[in-house]
Amino acid sequence: MLPRCATRVCNVFVLVLCLSTAEDFDWTKSDRGSFYYGTFPTGFSWGAGSSAYQTEGAWDKDGKGLSIWDVFCHKKGRIYQNETGDSSCEGYYKVKDDISLIKELKLNHYRFSISWPRILPTGIKSDHVNEKGIKYYDILLDQLLENNITPIVTLYHWDLPQVLQEKYGGWQNISMVNYFNEFANLCFERFGNRVKYWITFNNPWVMAVEGHETGEHAPGLKLRGTGAYRAAHHIIKAHAKVWHTYDTQWRSKQKGMVGISLSGDWGEPVDITNQKDIEAAERYVQFYMGWFATPIFHGDYPQVMKDFIGKKSSQQGLGTSRLPTFSSQEKSYIKGTCDFLGVGHFTTRYITQKTYPAGRISTYFTDRDLAELVDPSWPDPGSEWLYSVPWGFRRLLNFVKSQYGNPMIYITENGVSEKMMCTELCDEWRIQYLKSYINEMLKAIRDGVNVKGYTAWSLLDKFEWDEGYSERFGLYYVDFRNKNKPRYPKASVQFYKRIISSNGFPNQREVENWKRKAMETCSSSNQLLAADPLTSHMEMVTEIVVPTVCTLCILLSAVFLMFLLRRRN
Ligand SMILES: *[C@@H]1O[C@H](CO)[C@@H](O)[C@H](O)[C@H]1NC(C)=O
Ligand SMILES: *[C@@H]1O[C@H](CO)[C@@H](O)[C@H](O)[C@H]1NC(C)=O
Repeated sequence: MLPRCATRVCNVFVLVLCLSTAEDFDWTKSDRGSFYYGTFPTGFSWGAGSSAYQTEGAWDKDGKGLSIWDVFCHKKGRIYQNETGDSSCEGYYKVKDDISLIKELKLNHYRFSISWPRILPTGIKSDHVNEKGIKYYDILLDQLLENNITPIVTLYHWDLPQVLQEKYGGWQNISMVNYFNEFANLCFERFGNRVKYWITFNNPWVMAVEGHETGEHAPGLKLRGTGAYRAAHHIIKAHAKVWHTYDTQWRSKQKGMVGISLSGDWGEPVDITNQKDIEAAERYVQFYMGWFATPIFHGDYPQVMKDFIGKKSSQQGLGTSRLPTFSSQEKSYIKGTCDFLGVGHFTTRYITQKTYPAGRISTYFTDRDLAELVDPSWPDPGSEWLYSVPWGFRRLLNFVKSQYGNPMIYITENGVSEKMMCTELCDEWRIQYLKSYINEMLKAIRDGVNVKGYTAWSLLDKFEWDEGYSERFGLYYVDFRNKNKPRYPKASVQFYKRIISSNGFPNQREVENWKRKAMETCSSSNQLLAADPLTSHMEMVTEIVVPTVCTLCILLSAVFLMFLLRRRN
């Protein structure tokens, strides 16, 4: 395995050289791992992100309806340690606190999502509009704008109203297209005067595959080989419809943009001299980001998906492909429905060809005919799937540029988690991850990729779906054991702040200085966190002891008064 890795690295290195000969940046001619000192274009937007279910809490407050995630988490055995997002970071009650963290970082933008059932408790506009839910987002938006922070708003970050799931089958049913469009239209109407960047869906790949194929995510369906494709089909149509609604009804007044946030790992051929591996790696990326991006930019699914799923379906004896088809009207309706592309990216895999026999069970995974590998030397500081492979980010961005006509890109998610139950605020590995991934993004911009902004994922530690609270992605640590959910800065806050204020990486001496300083400050934050049990103890003092003492005082005074009165008599 190891000698193989060594040759791989060499191959990759050669590929980098080949790719870069066309460019006039000689810095790419050095080693793949070399760091590029330089700054981002003026006006580059720096941000951090969150999502409603992961941070808001208040799952049943102020008239909010249930989402599929509320119901999914309340069933035992679905989530690590049976945790839920019921209270999470209590973001619903902590708008002011969180705005001050955003200001502390000096962010240009903040990305959050609107909870559909908080605004439309049954999901359906004609049933009931929950004004209290609207008010929460009104306050959040107003406070962001007062502080010159641009909101980037996601309409759907996985929390479908439960009623729509129960009554109609959720994303398996085409009727979601209209319900989602009505919800989006309401958001444009009520918030569109203040929001100029709309994202229809966050990472529909996960919604489709983990929600409808493997069942690890809500709604927990295991419709192998069909469920993910059907859900994705409806999601793509819903995205297109919402884009058209904005385009025809709101764009001229509100002058904003509508995009989608697609996540994708990069897939690198194990052996770049092997045509089969090259094709397998291409399939990996096409089945991932291409599944959604190709219809949106070119009108139809990637040819390789149509070919492979079609072939596998007929081997199973099915009359039609398990991959649904778009009519020609639908193709032209869907094509070009993206004003900017949100890119979420975390990690990379090596890919090799692997043929799955035409058995009875076909899944999204076996349809691709490939195997995923990782290099054992890649650092994996956090989640088990999350290996740090910075150069994959640049590859993916260049792929997006060449495949989809160099679209305007906002990075909507990029970051790293940490190991279980870690209370370490000195997150050196996150500093390393951010530094190298942001640097690869800078290189991609030099390659001509049109990246306009970067969103670190995420502002806070939060509920991590099926992983519960066992994985922490935040720049800020949240103490979930304390019911006030206090936030503490990790060292990466200091480091990210410096990147933002310098709009890049000025020179080696300074960047190393940032890191050293960040690591110094975090030890005092660590002491704060260690003192936290004391703080909660002090809260107990105020909540129990103080009222008790007061009551006793009043009683004693009463007795004393009676005593005095008696003496007088
Ligand atoms: C979660 O719930 C399941 C089913 O009730 C139970 O078997 C399991 O022990 C629970 N786990 C924890 C950590 O409470
Ligand atoms: C799909 O939704 C419609 C309502 O919009 C409903 O009448 C129909 O029964 C649903 N189909 C399925 C299979 O649930």
